[in-house]
Amino acid sequence: MPLEVLQQAAAEMTNWNGSGMGVMEMSHRGKEFISIYEQAEADVRELLAVPANFKILFMQGGGLAENAIVPLNLSRGETIDVVVTGSWSEKSFKEASKYCTPHLAASGVDTQFTTLPAPKQWQLSAGTQYVHLCTNETIHGVEFQSLPDLKALGCDAPLVIDFSSHVLSRSVDWAKVGVAFGGAQKNIGPAGVTLVIVREDLLGHALKVCPSAFNYKTVADNGSMYNTPPTYSIYMAGLTFQWLKRQKEGELCGVAAMEQRNIAKAKLLYDFLDSSSFYSNHVAHDCRSRMNVPFFLADASRNDAFLAGAKAAGLLQLKGHKSVGGMRASIYNAMPIEGVQALVHYLQAFEKTQA
Ligand SMILES: Cc1ncc(COP(=O)(O)O)c(C=O)c1O
Repeated sequence: MPLEVLQQAAAEMTNWNGSGMGVMEMSHRGKEFISIYEQAEADVRELLAVPANFKILFMQGGGLAENAIVPLNLSRGETIDVVVTGSWSEKSFKEASKYCTPHLAASGVDTQFTTLPAPKQWQLSAGTQYVHLCTNETIHGVEFQSLPDLKALGCDAPLVIDFSSHVLSRSVDWAKVGVAFGGAQKNIGPAGVTLVIVREDLLGHALKVCPSAFNYKTVADNGSMYNTPPTYSIYMAGLTFQWLKRQKEGELCGVAAMEQRNIAKAKLLYDFLDSSSFYSNHVAHDCRSRMNVPFFLADASRNDAFLAGAKAAGLLQLKGHKSVGGMRASIYNAMPIEGVQALVHYLQAFEKTQA
C-alpha cells in the first residue's frame, strides 16, 4: 500500500469527510458511501481507459472465486480453452472442470514455467466459449508483455484475463479482452474486493446453478450492491486510485507513469541479477514479470542467512513461494525505486560477506 494512502485512511478512520462516521460504519446505500463508490468506479475507469461498453464490478471472493465465477457466467457448460503458464492458471483449469470442459490450449510446464507459449502455437478448440489466460503469474514470475489477438488466431471467443498481480501496473488493450478480473491485494488495496471488468454482451449467459451474488448480470444491474459490497476495501481501493492519478513521470501520469517506474524498477533488479554469478533468475528475458522477480542463490544452504540479513536490513517477505523455493521480490506499484535500490545494495553486500 502507498504510505500516503495508509496515512489518509488513518486520518479519516473515525470521521470521514466531516460526516461523523468512519467508512466501516456507513450504510452501503447511504449518500456518503455511494459517493465513495461512484468516485472509485469513475477513477478506475479513467485510469485503465475502460470503454463505455464494459461494466466495472466490485465483487467478493478474490481471484480464486473468479476461477469458478467465470465458467459459471461464460462457459454455458461447454468447452473452454485455458493456457497454463504457472500455478494460478493451473488452478483455473482445475476449478473450471467442475462447471464445463476445459481444454489445455498450451502449457509452459516443459520449461518449468520459465517461458510463455507463443500464441501462434496455441491449440484453440473449435467452438470454445472463452480463452483463459493469467497475464502475470505471481509465483513463477512470467508476464505477457502484450495480449494475444484471438481474432488474428481465427478465434471469435472472448479472452478472459486474470490480471490480479499486475493490474494498474500497465495499460490494457480492451479491444482484445472480454473479461478481466483481479483480487485487490497487490496493486489496489486490502484483500476483500475483486475488480471485475466485463464486456456488456457477455452478461446474461450464466448457468442456472450460478449463485445470484456471483451472476455478473445481477451484480451489474444492481451497481455491485446486490449484496453488501466490501465497503472498506472499496474505499481503500478508491484512495489508491486517487494516489495513482497523482503519480507523474515527466509528461506521463497515472498508469502510464506507473508503467515507466515499474520498467525502471524491474530493469534495475534484473540487470543486477544477470550480472551476478551468486544469484540467478531463470525466466526467459522476454517473459519476465515486472512485478514478481523470483531469484535463487547459487548455494541454497545460504538461504536462511540471506533472509535473516535481509530482515535485519528492513527488507521483508523475500522468501520464495514454497512450490518454487528460493527468493521472490514482489515490486508492486507501491514499492518505490528506493526500495529496489535498497534490495540491490543488500544483494551486493550479502554476496561480499559470503566470499
Ligand atoms: C494471479 C493470481 N490469481 C489468483 C490469485 C488468488 O487470489 P485470491 O487469494 O484473492 O483468491 C492470486 C493470489 O496471489 C494471484 O496472484
